[in-house]
Amino acid sequence: MLWFKCDEIIPGVAIAVAFIAVCLGGFFLSHEYSPILNVDTLCSMAEAAEDQREMFRQASKTAVVLGHTGETGRVLVKQLAQEKLFKKVTLIGRREIALDRNVVGPEFEQKVIDFEKLDDYTEEFKGHDVGFWCLGTTRGKVGVEGFKRVDYDYVLKTAELAKSGGMQHMQFMSTYGANANSSALYTRTKGQVEEALKVMHFQRLSIFRPGVLMVDRQESRPMEAFARLVLTPVSKIFPTAITIPVDYVAAAMINNAVATSDKTSETFENKEMHILSGKSPLCKKDEKTKTK
Ligand SMILES: NC(=O)c1ccc[n+]([C@@H]2O[C@H](COP(=O)([O-])OP(=O)(O)OC[C@H]3O[C@@H](n4cnc5c(N)ncnc54)[C@H](OP(=O)(O)O)[C@@H]3O)[C@@H](O)[C@H]2O)c1
Repeated sequence: MLWFKCDEIIPGVAIAVAFIAVCLGGFFLSHEYSPILNVDTLCSMAEAAEDQREMFRQASKTAVVLGHTGETGRVLVKQLAQEKLFKKVTLIGRREIALDRNVVGPEFEQKVIDFEKLDDYTEEFKGHDVGFWCLGTTRGKVGVEGFKRVDYDYVLKTAELAKSGGMQHMQFMSTYGANANSSALYTRTKGQVEEALKVMHFQRLSIFRPGVLMVDRQESRPMEAFARLVLTPVSKIFPTAITIPVDYVAAAMINNAVATSDKTSETFENKEMHILSGKSPLCKKDEKTKTK
């Protein structure tokens, strides 16, 4: 009897596992090797960003970062501090954190605000040229309504205040798969925010859609930690398919900020962000194939 069951169960499980493995492999392969049309433009942007930095510095621009205490925000601030691209950088958050003043210069100033009373803080949002929005929470932490409050209401209200305060270039960290019509709360909310930002008519709006962030998160998020554990070997074989290291996100946002563009609205998908970061070997590979 037991033998009968083993005979039935083991091959069944093996077939199911093989089927899932093939499906996942196909999924990652198709994402990794999906062609992108603007690869040359992005490679040129990443390359030109190096030269444009000095000109950008001389323009004495100012920036504001929302979400500077988060994983992406912290890396972004560190990179901005190393590069000294802005005359002034305002870090707006709900709490103050210790800044390493050996790394972060005096041009960085923290402002603590109450996000439930945003109308009281119009002054804090005045006078910035470029904005980096890396704000967000999770449904697991604060529930559905709490998630919408932060990821939709706070993001849009702060964007409105910054726009009224003169901000021209908005850089918003959205997500892979953002879609206002999605049935999933996370991707739907991000998609709705993208749509709402588009009708605000910033002089320039840049939307970034990273996949799973590869980062050693300080905060305990078991599901995310599990996903990262599974995806770490995947990211070695298919680096641009659905993952991105957090420092690539920051570098892509910075390279885009210094780049001149005649577009009023642009969206960068995960793979495009890899290229724009200037850290990906994709451009070099492309050059090799071109010279063959
Ligand atoms: N994690 C991923 O794999 C992934 C992938 C794609 C896109 N994204 C999106 O990218 C963005 C940045 O991600 P991340 O992982 O860097 O974020 P994170 O580490 O969770 O940081 C989020 C930031 O938002 C702030 N924040 C959260 N709740 C808030 C509240 N109620 N009021 C005021 N500020 C609040 C946090 O402040 P405190 O430090 O004070 O909490 C922190 O500065 C998010 O919008 C996220 O949805 C994430």
